[in-house]
Order: sequence, then structure tokens, then C-alpha cells
Amino acid sequence: MSKDPLDKDRRRGEAFFEDTGLWGFIHRSFTKSMGYTEEDLRKPVIGICNTFSELNKCHSQFRELAEYVKRGVWQAGGLPMEFPTISIGEPYVKPTTMLLRNLMAMDTEEMMKAHPLDGVVLLGGCDKTVPAQLMAAASVNIPAIVLTGGPMLNGRLNGANLGACTDCYQFTLEHKAGNLTDAELATAENAICRSDGHCMVMGTASTMASIAEALGMALPGCAAIPAPDSRRKHLAELTGKQIVKLVEADIRPRDLMNERSLDNAIRVTMASGGSTNAIIHLIAIAGRLGIRLPLERFDELAKETPFLLNLRPSGQYQMEEYFEAGGVPALMKELEPLLHTDCLTVTGRSVADNLREVQVLNREVIFPLSQPLDAQGGIAVLRGNLAPSGALIKQTAVSSHLKKHVGKAVVFHSPEDLQKRIDDPELDVDESSVLVLQNAGPKGAPAMPEIGQIPIPQKLLKKGVRDMVRISDARISGTSYGALIVHVAPEAAIGGPLALVRDGDLIELDIASRTLNVLVDDAELQQRKQKWQAPAPHYDRGYGLLFTERVLQADRGCDFDFLLPPELRGEEESK
Ligand code: FES
Repeated sequence: MSKDPLDKDRRRGEAFFEDTGLWGFIHRSFTKSMGYTEEDLRKPVIGICNTFSELNKCHSQFRELAEYVKRGVWQAGGLPMEFPTISIGEPYVKPTTMLLRNLMAMDTEEMMKAHPLDGVVLLGGCDKTVPAQLMAAASVNIPAIVLTGGPMLNGRLNGANLGACTDCYQFTLEHKAGNLTDAELATAENAICRSDGHCMVMGTASTMASIAEALGMALPGCAAIPAPDSRRKHLAELTGKQIVKLVEADIRPRDLMNERSLDNAIRVTMASGGSTNAIIHLIAIAGRLGIRLPLERFDELAKETPFLLNLRPSGQYQMEEYFEAGGVPALMKELEPLLHTDCLTVTGRSVADNLREVQVLNREVIFPLSQPLDAQGGIAVLRGNLAPSGALIKQTAVSSHLKKHVGKAVVFHSPEDLQKRIDDPELDVDESSVLVLQNAGPKGAPAMPEIGQIPIPQKLLKKGVRDMVRISDARISGTSYGALIVHVAPEAAIGGPLALVRDGDLIELDIASRTLNVLVDDAELQQRKQKWQAPAPHYDRGYGLLFTERVLQADRGCDFDFLLPPELRGEEESK
């Protein structure tokens, strides 16, 4: 029988502070030493998971934001207690934040379990932080609300808006092509990130913030309020108040996150042109809930969810304009006929109730359901002999002439090989070639770094080529664009068919029919497989070894097998 206070009828904080024995004495005296009174210890204990870090620029404002949450908690009669976990910021973490997402999920889960928290506010923002926190909340299942830090204000240069990091790629690409001087590049560097907040295009951070709202795990409107806007402080205070109400009503993450709200989150992602990373994260969150979410579900919903949101990298505007257009609630209002509107949310009300008064305020940003930007959602799931367990392409960001394409493979055997040879003037490549990167998957790279936006070879850049079909078992940033086929599963490092492709093989992509094939017969592929040798392992100790031994493939969400509930383990067909 578990001794976790979660199993008792009393609140966890009550069980902790009202214990009549030695441990109650110790809990009370140590807490009172921080200035809390007897009365404070009788209130619901609200953890504020503050992922502030100077190593994570996207969370630089979290010290201040946490104070507004605390104000709300006190006002509602709770006892706020702030605590840290690891914080992972995209630009700094090497080799990739994806290596640490599961570590952050474990850290958050164990902190939530080990302390007397009755509820928790999860402060996240940068790409992997929100999924890690949602995975933990799904596993622990104590009342929880996500509060994201908000997007940066638009970058500004020469009267135009800039977006991180879509324009980071553009600027460095044009610099490499010789179209920008060093000084012009430095000016762009200074102008692009001009405030607190996370990336302000519909990248992974904005997508995951939208998903938190669509799942009912964040207050309506949370995703799009710019980080420096005073209304985010208002929302932080409201979040603090609301978590106390959730504790009183005993509304928990598993009351909110289920198959139906996952459908809502997928539809919002598709209508937004959201990040391909969201697929991995949603599968992982679902797994923690005991739900096996197959790639087919994404494709089914993508086919019947129109693309409505005119935001970069698939469209024109950025998060600041999305906020002014009404944000996620306005997009959900437009999608309302397609949503499960009876789903409960952290407001304590249903999606339908939350949307009752909502209006779309700018039709240039949020298109009508009857006149979408595209009839289908942003992400397509591909299958074929090159990706038997699936691959993804963000079809809204693909140049139209490449949506159906056959080309000769130019193969790079590792990220290092790519770096060494991509700009070699002797590389046998032209604009119709298909660039293939092997061994960049969950175990291979390791941890699927965001290098699926394989650079265009310099000699083609100089000829004006800006898009090519590129295939890998890596990921891409949500801010990337182009004909980028990623998350190929099974990955090359475990002998998936991607490992068997050779220079000159013809590869056929057809997004309309959702197929990706290497035009080599089965007998030849079998022969190549027999000669295939697994790459040397990356780690012989530590967390890296744990990661590479226990991580699941992309189509299983890249969680660790042992973090899934027992009923979902053992489905290791593509591990
Ligand atoms: Fe943090 Fe882009 S670097 S969201």
C-alpha cells in the first residue's frame, strides 16, 4: 500500500503540516523558520515551479512573473511555495534540448511527488519545457495549471518585422550566399530579439503554449500575450487564484487531458501550422496518460482540419498580431464546430463555456473556417518503404514545386559528415537532388537534434536555389521552412531503411498520397541490410547512456520506456 499522501482523503499539505507526531513537528518548525505562521500552514500548498535560468533566455522574466502568481495564490487563500527544476533553453543546450526533455519531466515529476503540494503552477516557455511539465503533470495528477512566459515582441529592422528564429535562418543563409555583409548581419542580430519571451513565430514554443490552452491546461488567452505586456502579469495573478480553486474543486490533469482534449490539441496544431515537434510531445503526453496516440490520428485530423492561422513560418504574421486577433481562444472559436467542446478546462468550465463570448478580431490573421488558407492542416504523415513507422513533413512550409518530386539521393552518413561535405564544390548535387541525412535520430545523433533543415549547398545557394527535398531522422525547429521530411522511423542508427539509402538512389515524395519511397527493390534493400553495421554508441556512462538505451522512437514520442504506464510498455515494435 502506497504511503503517498495523494492516497489519503486529506489534502497533501494537510497531511504534511497537521501530522501530530515527530514529522509534523519538524515540518511545521522548519517552515515557520521561513516566516510563515500557523495560519499559513493551514492553507492549500501551491507549488510554483519556476524554471528561471540565466542559461535560458526565454525564461529571463520568470522571477518577476512568479511574484504575480504568488499574489494570486495569497489572494485566493493559498500558500505559494516556489521551487526550481532544470530549465532547458534551445540556443544553449548541447547537443540538443531533446536529450534533456525527459530529464526535466522526471525532475518535475519527482519534485511534485516528493513535496506536500496540493496544486502546482508550471512556469514554462522555451520549446521542451512545456511538454516536459505536461508529461510530469499527467503522471503525477495533482491539480496543475501551465503558465507560459509569452512570446517576444516582434523584432524590428528597417521598418519590417523580424521573427526568431525563422529570420535567423534567412539572415545566415543570405550571409552565406554573399548577399549580406558582416555588419548587416550584426545589425540583424541586435534587432531580432528585443524583449523578454520565447520565439515569436509559430515555432515549437508557441505551438506548445497553444497546445496547453487547447488541452485545457492553461487559462484561455495565455499562449499569445507578449511576454512584456502587462496583461501577462494580470494572467499570472489569475492563474495563481485559479489553481487554488482547482485544488478546492479537486480538478486534476487527468480530468482535463484525455483522448478528446488531445484531439482538440491536434486540431489547434494543424489549424495553426504548428511545429512538427508537437507530434512527438503530444504522443509523449498521451503516453503518460495511458493513451497510445498513433501517427494516423494526426493525419486523420490534419485532413479534416483546415489551416487557418496566417503566422510565420507558414504565413505572414507573428504572435503579437495573433494576440491582437484574439489568440488561441479566437482560433478555437473558428474551429468550434470541429472541437470536442464539452471538454473540461482549468477554468472549471467547458471549452464551449470558455468560447461563448469570444470573437475573431482580425481576419487577416485568423481566416474563416469557410475560407481557409489551405483545406488541410499543416503537418502530413508520410509512409512508405523509407519510413515504415512514419515520417513528417510540414506541408504548409513546402515550396509548391516540391510537393511531388523524384530525385537522386545525395547521402550524408552523420551530422559530422554533413558539416564536412555539404559545401564541397565537388559535391555531386543539383537542385533536383534529394539530400539524405542518416544517423541523426533519437539514438543516432543522439536525441534527434534540430538539424533536419539540412543546409542548401553553397554552390546551389549562389545559383538562387532556396528549397530542396531533404530527408532525415532528425527534427526541425518549429521555425524552419522548406521541403523537410523529418522524424523518419525507424531511425538509421537501429537499422531502419534510411540507413540503407545510397548516393544515386531515386527517392519519390508525394505529399498528396502521403508516400515516401526509395525506388530500390526489396531484394537489394535486404542485401544492403545484411551488410549494415550499427554505429558506435555515443556514451558509456551517465544520463546519456540511460537516454540512448531507453529512449523510444519518434513515433512513440521519444519518452523513456520505463516512464510509460505498465499497460503501454512492451509495444516495442519500433524501438
Ligand atoms: Fe526558446 Fe525559441 S529559443 S523558444
